[in-house]
Amino acid sequence: MATNPTMSERADALEEQQIRELGDRLVTKSLLFHLADGEQSLGNRFGAGTGKQLLMGEDPRLPPMPDAPTLLDFFRLRFAPTQAHLLQSANLAQKNGLPEKMVLACLLHDIAVIGFIRADHGYWGAQLLEPYVDEEVSWAIKMHQCLRFYPDESVGYAYPDNYRRMFGDDYEPEPYIAAEYERAKNHKWYMSARMICVNDLYSFDPDVVVEMEQFEDIIGRHFKQPKEGLGNDNTPASHMWRTLRRPCNPL
Ligand SMILES: [Fe+2]
Ligand SMILES: [Fe+2]
Repeated sequence: MATNPTMSERADALEEQQIRELGDRLVTKSLLFHLADGEQSLGNRFGAGTGKQLLMGEDPRLPPMPDAPTLLDFFRLRFAPTQAHLLQSANLAQKNGLPEKMVLACLLHDIAVIGFIRADHGYWGAQLLEPYVDEEVSWAIKMHQCLRFYPDESVGYAYPDNYRRMFGDDYEPEPYIAAEYERAKNHKWYMSARMICVNDLYSFDPDVVVEMEQFEDIIGRHFKQPKEGLGNDNTPASHMWRTLRRPCNPL
């Protein structure tokens, strides 16, 4: 009679599968991956005493990337496949007649959520994109982090209902968010960041299917794709793209 595998049998099976896929290489994980599991740890550290070498370079468990990856390659080969929120937000921005670069801002506003680190996602997203987009676009992406917590009746933006569900009725934004909002609301690009919130679709319309092809021309005109490929291009954000490409490099 078949029985369910125990925890340790499952762990053994996982380890066997990794060995099959990785040869004899040991995978190391950054502190951040362990912290997300509630562990203040570096895991197997550098594999001392195991007699194994560490996985360094391309990870055979992940889809292979071209030598000179583009933004769309990262969307396809690294980012989480849950991209409808970004596509529908950009679609709405386009329908609302926003300028192309703001459509791009809406398309990329949560790039850190689906593609890098969720905490402080506006800041991480802006930093990833800064070398490749208009300054106003990355500023707006950074500032939507704080603005989404504050209503602006002049453009019909109310505090999102789903934040009450997700964070509770009594959630108060942290002081750094409140301070950033005070700075943002007097900035010349305030309304650009606010437009990201206005077009930030919190509830998907399952009947609307938006494909990335709809925005490929806008990306081509407003995202400065480096010919060497993201990560190979020596900008202040190249290392972030490289880390996404090879997230388990031990150093
Ligand atoms: Fe966001
Ligand atoms: Fe969003």
